[in-house]
Amino acid sequence: MLLVRAVQRPVKEKANPPYTSHRFIFQDAGRLRELAAESIDLVVTSPPYPMIQMWDEHFSRADARVALGLEKGDGDTAFELMHRQLDRVWEELARVMKKGSFVCINIGDATRRIGNRFQLFANHARVLSKFSRLGFDPLPLILWRKQVNAPNKFMGSGMLPAGAYVTLEHEYILIFRKGPRRTFPSAEEKERRRQSALFWEERNVWYSDLWDFKGTRQNTGGEGVRERSAAYPLVLPFRLINMYSLLGDTVLDPFLGTGTTALAALAAGRNSIGFELEASFSRTIRERMQREFSLLAELNRRRVADHLAFIKKCRQEGRSLKYRNEPFGFPVMTGQETGLKLPFLRRLEEEEAGLWKAYYHDDAYLKEVALRCTP
Ligand SMILES: C[S@@+](CC[C@H](N)C(=O)[O-])C[C@H]1O[C@@H](n2cnc3c(N)ncnc32)[C@H](O)[C@@H]1O
Repeated sequence: MLLVRAVQRPVKEKANPPYTSHRFIFQDAGRLRELAAESIDLVVTSPPYPMIQMWDEHFSRADARVALGLEKGDGDTAFELMHRQLDRVWEELARVMKKGSFVCINIGDATRRIGNRFQLFANHARVLSKFSRLGFDPLPLILWRKQVNAPNKFMGSGMLPAGAYVTLEHEYILIFRKGPRRTFPSAEEKERRRQSALFWEERNVWYSDLWDFKGTRQNTGGEGVRERSAAYPLVLPFRLINMYSLLGDTVLDPFLGTGTTALAALAAGRNSIGFELEASFSRTIRERMQREFSLLAELNRRRVADHLAFIKKCRQEGRSLKYRNEPFGFPVMTGQETGLKLPFLRRLEEEEAGLWKAYYHDDAYLKEVALRCTP
């Protein structure tokens, strides 16, 4: 058993949640045999992007007709065959997702010259239509703006009209819901929902349809691994998980890569399950768990510090915050934030290969954090 951080002082295991579990399964997500029907509360994922060169070999390995299509200059057929491989995973999601749960998919379109045709392959549109056919409801989506700094980012005929192309500098976060809105009938669920609230000032930024944080460089075990894995920044799944699930829910990533979704889930106090074809990523994930522990533990502390800075600014502007958050003991803008709690990571344990548990500080710690973060 691997212990990432030793317990500093005796802590009661009464916090909510007392611990979360994180399971990694290294096999094809086209069959999620390990998962029961209607067992997952949220999916956050990013698949290999069809028609992006770095994934040609991946898609061709599973279906030789992809390579043939590309060689013959038949981009449309290659595009469709690549998406059919992703469709198998989307079909499984339709089975394992609970009613009322959300699916968030980060995907970018591709631009490519095949033969003498240069064109856009609209991956986001193809995935959207597949999910509609599966009976999910598409919801307003997020554009993730990723500015490209490369000197050759402008394509086509330069300054001469009419053959220059707009630079693709965004990706999509598609959001779907399976069936009608989730309900919270029991007292336990209502309370868990209250505790899972976001700060008012976070809501105003996170629920905007344009996210422009940079494609953050992160420690994924070297540039080679990052390039091969196409990892997204931790902040992306962390926000989505906080926006679309409750504390103690279970988040699935069928295309886990270097484990970013699992790291975000454990920082957010959610359970997670990840599927990944490449078994070699198990080492990367394990290393990230150890190396990024402090960064993960810091994420919610930073949210508290930002909130306290927000309170200070309100006071300076002569605005008063009417409500008080009970667990932290600080003012908040709305009544919905009065029960908000955040999980503060205390230690991580690898119970067995591919199964981790994350333990959290108890409730008394929240007031300590609020005091420590006061500007
Ligand atoms: C874009 S990457 C995901 C990166 C991830 N979000 C991260 O932050 O590291 C897509 C991943 O899906 C994996 N993959 C592709 N097809 C798969 C399948 N059928 N089942 C499971 N994993 C698959 C690839 O090996 C790759 O690691």
